[in-house]
Amino acid sequence: MNLDQCYNTQQFRRLARRRLPGPIFHYIDGAADDEVTYRRNTEAYEECDLVPSVLAGVETIDMSTVVMGKRVDLPLFLAPTALQRLFHHQGEAAVGAAAEKFNTWFGISSLATASIEAVGETVKSPKLFQLYYHKDKGLTNSMIERCKDANFDALALTVDTIVGGNRERDLVTGFTSPPRLTVKSALSFATHPGWTLNYLLRPSFELSNLKDHVEEGSNISLSVSDYFSTMLDQSMDWKAAEDVRGQWGKQFCLKGIMSVEDARRAVDIGATAIMVSNHGGRQLDGSRAPFDQLAEIVDAVGDKIEVICDGGIKRGTHVLKALSAGATACSGGRLYLYALAAAGQAGVEKTLSNFRAEIERGMKLMGARSVADLTRQNLRYR
Ligand code: LAC
Repeated sequence: MNLDQCYNTQQFRRLARRRLPGPIFHYIDGAADDEVTYRRNTEAYEECDLVPSVLAGVETIDMSTVVMGKRVDLPLFLAPTALQRLFHHQGEAAVGAAAEKFNTWFGISSLATASIEAVGETVKSPKLFQLYYHKDKGLTNSMIERCKDANFDALALTVDTIVGGNRERDLVTGFTSPPRLTVKSALSFATHPGWTLNYLLRPSFELSNLKDHVEEGSNISLSVSDYFSTMLDQSMDWKAAEDVRGQWGKQFCLKGIMSVEDARRAVDIGATAIMVSNHGGRQLDGSRAPFDQLAEIVDAVGDKIEVICDGGIKRGTHVLKALSAGATACSGGRLYLYALAAAGQAGVEKTLSNFRAEIERGMKLMGARSVADLTRQNLRYR
């Protein structure tokens, strides 16, 4: 199978699995505990049906929408994810360039392998920075200030990683950042020479935005879950979130809101958006799926704050369902990470092109000429 034959996320996943050493693949693919929430994130879409309208004159449709103050050409964006150079040597640069071609938002993580400055200089489409609130206040402050200087458009404070999730696949494979060569992992590196040579010969792996403050993750190997549990500030509360918003001063999103009550508090502290998300099922297993929670959150705060539905999206029709329920836009991580791992920038562009074609076809079949035409009238929960 090659890139041209990747018509959907599952096919990219298969290609990624072939290209990546086991520990790296399972870091992307895995989730917490029994991965119940991870599976539910997608299944939730499958338990809700679309009701199309016909004879709507759909020869031209407009899927553009305004997200966090920016008009973008797609109602789907590339959520921030960590460690991208481990998945493909082009890393964040490839993801940003693909997002720019499709004029959609993309985000980088505090645990990115490209610097805030490099991304700020090169990527022209809207940029989001995902802030992890560290115990080291000098580090947290420096990332906020660097994002201001680099003209990032929005900051998303992560609120669902107060401790690391129990990612048992990572425990089994021994996955760490940076990757450690162990007896267990040696075979998987040896049998993926393409990946291994790139990793060894390209500029050395680092967590560009953390490395001047902390050794962990760049020079000291540890699991991502241990990184969360030891490096992040568990005393983070609503006051802290409000202070970050005040320091940042621009579009501000809370990433990982799941309850109506918290969505209301996000409005109270002046957030401009929330990402309804359970971190791709990687944190609290047993948590509800974003799509299952979406309607009640939209009903409570949808007129006061943007509601982004993050996670579980595998098809354009999933995006149509979330938009019909009232989401401003959708986002996802694995949906482009498999593609990045499979083929770098060309892979991310192909997955975005697949999604754009699916959304366009779906809107035409739904009789929706614009995103605003998608409403609850078009949905039936089983
Ligand atoms: C993860 C983080 C880094 O879920 O977002 O692994």
